[in-house]
Amino acid sequence: MTGAQTDSTAILAAIYGAVRALQLYPAENEVVKRGLKEVRELADRILAHEGGLSVWVAGNYMFVNDLQLRLDLHDYASLAALREVLRGHGVGRMEVDPKAGDEDWQTFLGLIATDPAPGQPPLDALHSALESKGVTHITIGPPSPLFEGSEGEQSGEAARRTYTRSVKVAREMMEGLVLGKAIGARRAERAVLAVVDQVLQEPATMIGMLTLRDFDDHSYVHSVNVSILSVALGDYLGLNREQLFELGFAALFHDIGKVLIPASVLNKMGWLNDEEWRLVSQHPDFGLLMLFNVEGFADLPYRAMLAVYEHHMKPDLSGYPRVIRRRRQGLFARIIALTEAYDAAISNYSKQFLPCSPDEAIRQLREAETGAYDKVLTRAFVNMMGIFPVATLVILDTGEMGVVVAPNPNPKALSRPLVRIVATADGERVGDGPIRDLTERDPDTGQYRRTIARSSDPARYGINVADHVA
Ligand SMILES: [Fe+2]
Ligand SMILES: [Fe+2]
Repeated sequence: MTGAQTDSTAILAAIYGAVRALQLYPAENEVVKRGLKEVRELADRILAHEGGLSVWVAGNYMFVNDLQLRLDLHDYASLAALREVLRGHGVGRMEVDPKAGDEDWQTFLGLIATDPAPGQPPLDALHSALESKGVTHITIGPPSPLFEGSEGEQSGEAARRTYTRSVKVAREMMEGLVLGKAIGARRAERAVLAVVDQVLQEPATMIGMLTLRDFDDHSYVHSVNVSILSVALGDYLGLNREQLFELGFAALFHDIGKVLIPASVLNKMGWLNDEEWRLVSQHPDFGLLMLFNVEGFADLPYRAMLAVYEHHMKPDLSGYPRVIRRRRQGLFARIIALTEAYDAAISNYSKQFLPCSPDEAIRQLREAETGAYDKVLTRAFVNMMGIFPVATLVILDTGEMGVVVAPNPNPKALSRPLVRIVATADGERVGDGPIRDLTERDPDTGQYRRTIARSSDPARYGINVADHVA
């Protein structure tokens, strides 16, 4: 990240932090003062550098002085929440000039921290309030017509398109292999890069795509899902784009050896006999051999080949293929083993098990026996996904129903994600309702306003969770 990126992301996070503090505490509280000070310092630094500070909300993106911010999973939550706050007031743009002082900031933040009163259009109300309080160095405006009508759709649509296209490419390549065609490196490369870029840009939205159920063909969907989750985890661990590409490629092809196994065995109901099991457990060997058949790479994709070969080996080497000499299961294979277990748990690929909810899948991974998955990676994965991962349908203790849209920006609040309300306590559907931060407390009692009571099955309510994530 460049310095400008860091400052820009930091100021938005600081503004949101101050707004939250003002919602919870009186203006003279220490937390509020600290929040304001942070905003002031960051704003002054940007103003000194660039002479002005303007913030734009555009669809699912935010711009600070023309710099489009990359929302990664950490910032995503607070930036998405700030975006909602601004949108609630009809604000598409705010401009700060270098003369803005403490009082301007305090008044402005205080006003946007309060829900707009009904009656007047919110932007007009905010305008007059700023004017009457003499704030002239911070100004606001409506969303740009350029981005109007694209609220939330832009990125959601882009994510959906990337996802659908990747499933298609995966299918064509794997079907081609069955017919003896080689995998074209170029096509595979394009599909993987699209996934990498989309995950880097909007990880939460892409992870939400895992719940799309409009595809009949499991194996391709599984490959793409594992690719998305692996790239997201790799990014979380700090891998660079080139490494993420290799990891995404390995993940997309991790089960490619299965194309050589008869569908009657793969889709068999009930337990496999010895012969069938022997075949299935050979898919890592088959996959390794098949990757020799990739055409058009300058070098063979060795790291991916290794990961495909090792993905069922397990850290304690108790899996398959059996190894004679001690070795260490590679990082990519460990990542894939974890993400594919998660995807298999939440999906209905297997004829033997019912799919479970995302939070249940996370619980299973956390409680898995030692040796099954890498412990450190499991912890990182859980931290990244949260206890209630993106796209979990949750029932709150208020009786409201919501869909998890992002983990909480506070890494300690693993079980208090950001939730979009989709039904009120009376059971009334509200479509895309407001996003609520579950760390929000009632200032009078100090109690959390909302807590997750349990997760639920979206199919029971006819809810397509992917629609609510973006
Ligand atoms: Fe596998
Ligand atoms: Fe798999």
